[in-house]
Amino acid sequence: MTKLNGTTALVTGANRGIGKAFVEALIEAGASRIYAGARKPETLDALVAAHGDRVVPVTLDVTRPEQVRTAAEELTDISVLINNAGIARFEGLVAPGDSEAARAEMETNYFGLLNMVQAFAPVLKANGGGAIVNLASIVSHFSFPGAGSYSASKAAVHSLTQGIRGELRAQGTLVVGVYPGPIDTDMGAAIEMEKTPPSEVAKAVLAAVDAGTEDVYPDLMSQEMHRSYWADPKAFELHLTGTSSAA
Ligand SMILES: NC(=O)c1ccc[n+]([C@@H]2O[C@H](COP(=O)([O-])OP(=O)(O)OC[C@H]3O[C@@H](n4cnc5c(N)ncnc54)[C@H](OP(=O)(O)O)[C@@H]3O)[C@@H](O)[C@H]2O)c1
Repeated sequence: MTKLNGTTALVTGANRGIGKAFVEALIEAGASRIYAGARKPETLDALVAAHGDRVVPVTLDVTRPEQVRTAAEELTDISVLINNAGIARFEGLVAPGDSEAARAEMETNYFGLLNMVQAFAPVLKANGGGAIVNLASIVSHFSFPGAGSYSASKAAVHSLTQGIRGELRAQGTLVVGVYPGPIDTDMGAAIEMEKTPPSEVAKAVLAAVDAGTEDVYPDLMSQEMHRSYWADPKAFELHLTGTSSAA
């Protein structure tokens, strides 16, 4: 039995991809209630039908502060917050045009996550500390060609994760950063690399939460890239030049 047995969790972006895999893994780990956040709650119908009242749909766009506030007022029993919602536009940084993609990625990936943390930190504190899981990316550590603005937003998520870890230590909240390589989801469809199933990410992350591990590289590709990057960051940066696209 894991510490997640009997827990109550909230997963953002739970209707598909890695978020849906988190809901399923939490069910398997024995969570008693999982609030599944989605911009369109009807997209959660199949999940709710499959798991009955253990999965509770919640209308939640993380970029809408009023929805985030309402969720934090209503979902006062959560101990695990999984900040999974994210977007990737796979655009470069320098190409002519506006900065719309870069702003949208920051708005969802960084500010949306920050909205969630600010609203739910007091809830977690009231419930004894609990855990926050943030979906960053292996490209939090380096900029991937073809995904420059996404990489920047995920670097911001990495920094936020380190920052809130320090701020929330006193209230006993475990803060977990997750740094996946290419994962087989709708987002991952744009990436022409070998991909890991989302269920493996969810399983590795829940094991980390159970063990109190703060940094998770949940797939072979992220583990290998992490090793290569830290062995020689500049050589790795040069090696990436000329390649394209990774989430
Ligand atoms: N796939 C990869 O290769 C990969 C690698 C590293 C990290 N990640 C990260 O892992 C997380 C999940 O990615 P994924 O691959 O599962 O992506 P995905 O298949 O594209 O799913 C993204 C999820 O986020 C939701 N979402 C987007 N904007 C939202 C908002 N403003 N408010 C609430 N929900 C929102 C989407 O909801 P809708 O259905 O309403 O659009 C969807 O449920 C993301 O943070 C992503 O950056 C992914």
